[in-house]
Formats: sequence, C-alpha cells, structure tokens
Amino acid sequence: MTNYRLALIPGDGIGVDVTDATMEVLRAAARNRFTLEAETFPWSCEYYLEHGQMMPGDGIETLKGFDAIYLGAVGWPATVPDSVSLHGLLLPIRKAFTQYANIRPHRLLPGVEGPLKAEGFDILCIRENTEGEYSGAGGRVHMGQDNEVATEVAVFTRKGVERILRFGFEQARARRKHLTSVTKSNAQKYSMVFWDEVTKEIAAEYPDVTVSHMHIDAMAAKMVMAPQDLDVIVASNLFGDILTDLGAAIQGGLGFAASANICPDRTGPSMFEPVHGSAPDIAGKDIANPIAAIWSGAMMLEHLGEAETAAEILSAIEAATAQGIGTRPGSHSTSDITAAILAALEA
Ligand code: NAD
Ligand code: IPM
Ligand code: MN
Repeated sequence: MTNYRLALIPGDGIGVDVTDATMEVLRAAARNRFTLEAETFPWSCEYYLEHGQMMPGDGIETLKGFDAIYLGAVGWPATVPDSVSLHGLLLPIRKAFTQYANIRPHRLLPGVEGPLKAEGFDILCIRENTEGEYSGAGGRVHMGQDNEVATEVAVFTRKGVERILRFGFEQARARRKHLTSVTKSNAQKYSMVFWDEVTKEIAAEYPDVTVSHMHIDAMAAKMVMAPQDLDVIVASNLFGDILTDLGAAIQGGLGFAASANICPDRTGPSMFEPVHGSAPDIAGKDIANPIAAIWSGAMMLEHLGEAETAAEILSAIEAATAQGIGTRPGSHSTSDITAAILAALEA
C-alpha cells in the first residue's frame, strides 16, 4: 500500500483547528487504499517567541524529504509582526521549493449563497507565487527622518513570467479554453508591459485558447459583476493575492477558498493551505469554517495521484453544504461541519 509522508504545519490561530479537521477527513477518505504518515511541526508565532525564529535553521532541509506539506495558517500580529512571521515561514517555503504556481479555485458549493448572489461561475485563479511584488527587494533609508524613503521593488524575470503563463495556458486548455491575463500595464510601464508581451508570445503556443488582457481594477469589478464570464485568470503575486480574497467573497466567504502552492517541476514538495489566514478574531472558538482547508487537503491528495479519493472528499463537502451545513457564517461549528463531511464520506 502506498504511504505518503506529509509535513503538517498547523501554524497559528484557526490554522490549528482547520488542520485537525482536514487530517481527520483525509484519513477517513484514505480508507484502506493508502496511508498518510504525518509529522507535525509546531512552527508558529508561539514557536518564534520561544526560539527567536519561525522555524529552525534547517527547516527547509527538513521539509525537503516529504511528499507534500500541509499548512493551516501563519500569523499572530498581536505578538509577532506579520512582516516577521510570514517572511520567516510561509513565504520562504514557497520560494525554496519553487512553488511558483498558486492555484485557487472559486466556485459556489451547493446551498451556499454569496453576498452578491453571483451564480454559475467557475474560476481558476493562477497566481504567480515566487517573485513579482513579493521579491523582497527594496529597503528604507533615512528612517524616521523627514526625507525618509521606502522602496519595495517588484521583480519580474522572463523565466518566472513565461512559466506561470505556460502553466495557466495548460490549465485553460484542460478547461473551457479561455485565459485572462491580469496586469496594470497602463500605469506600470516596465514590468506589466513586459508581462503583456510575454503573454502574447506564450499565447502563440496555444492557438486553441482564447486570451483576454484586463487591468486589475477592471478585473475587480468584473469578478463582482460578471464572474460567470471568467475561466482561468493568471495574475502576479500581489494581484493574485487580492483577487483571490475577492474570489473567496463571491464564493460565500474565506471559509470556502482552497489553495495549492504547486512546484510543477516536482523538484521539491508542493504545499497546500486554505486562502484564509489565522483569523485571530475567531480563533479558539470552534467556529472557523474548515471547508477551505479540507478542500485544500483534497487538492493535496489529487496532486499526490489520489484523484478518486480527492473527488470523494469534494462530493462529501458538497453533500454537507447541500444540507445547509456550514453554508452561512456562524451557522455551524467547526466540529459540526467536519462531522457532517465525515458522515457524508461514510454514506
Ligand atoms: P484572515 O483570513 O485571517 O481573516 C479575515 C476575516 O475572515 C476575519 O474576519 C476572519 O474571522 C474571517 N475568516 C477567515 N477564515 C475563516 C474561516 N475559515 N471561517 C470563518 N471565517 C473566517 O485575514 P487577516 O485578518 O488579514 O489575517 C490574520 C492573520 O493571518 C495575519 O497575521 C495575516 O498576516 C495572516 N494570514 C496568513 C495567511 C496564511 O498563512 N496563508 C493568509 C492570510 C493571512
Ligand atoms: C495568502 C496570504 C499571504 C500572501 C500572506 C499571509 C503573506 O495572504 O496566502 O493569500 O499574501 O501570499
Ligand atoms: Mn491572501
């Protein structure tokens, strides 16, 4: 029987609750088809307060040997600045394992009604995940003085832009064959004009896929007004980050948005995590919606080659929401929603 070795990083706040819920469902879904051998790493803001770092110096080396990484959420701004916690754990993992494609599906689950009552949409957002606005280049000079200047340099490489677009076109080819590239090339005249040019070059390799170019501001409106017209969206790191919280909102909330940080070259493990964060406002209350996290777990199984089990988990999530379980904020507890998904798996 195949055994998969998983590194679990529950992290902070509701990250811990939703990771527990996810593992319960994944183990039940695995039945006797394969086994999941999970090692839990307590890397978090609490770990930082104790050790002065978010993960040990050889943390990346340790993660290398696993088949996949599952992460709950990281961040506890009351005690550790986000700029420290995220740059000490989540962001370096994405970069170190060249998880350049962040896949975030947005569609309505049965029984869920988003605040905009949007219907009939099925969007796959492909977010560039290793460079761009998150390159970490920049700095501050004359700190605290009147002439202080802060820069945050967005770095776009030909290699990075080509590979994310190619990845997006491959996804579009396997879906409804439409790709929308999102930029801000009317205002950002170097990086985004370059991105538009690369999009046109790569598009020539995919004559069966139709392409639209949209500016990020117009896309934000489009996702609210007519999300059903969209198929695959490819966006830079920051734009993709913002659009996927918007995508989560039209889905009914952050509790429904799943995500996969994929290393397409398989030179290292990929990482799976919900789109949402540690939600300090609801942490420890057993009210976080675990659906986004469980769906992300299903994406992990699919990536590992267990597509049938992944599909069964999705069906179980849909069976639960179709009965109205977990469909509205606060309607059910984390444990109730998990129990309903487990029951649907057994049915
Ligand atoms: P957040 O996603 O944690 O929360 C935003 C809002 O959505 C909150 O009102 C929260 O209660 C609600 N929410 C989020 N997930 C929910 C769920 N599963 N069920 C029900 N409601 C849910 O975003 P934030 O408040 O901006 O960030 C909190 C912390 O998390 C910060 O430290 C931030 O940097 C971090 N963060 C981490 C990740 C990650 O690890 N991938 C992602 C986003 C934010
Ligand atoms: C996400 C998060 C992270 C990001 C933060 C916490 C650094 O918002 O995964 O969407 O911006 O990538
Ligand atoms: Mn985000």
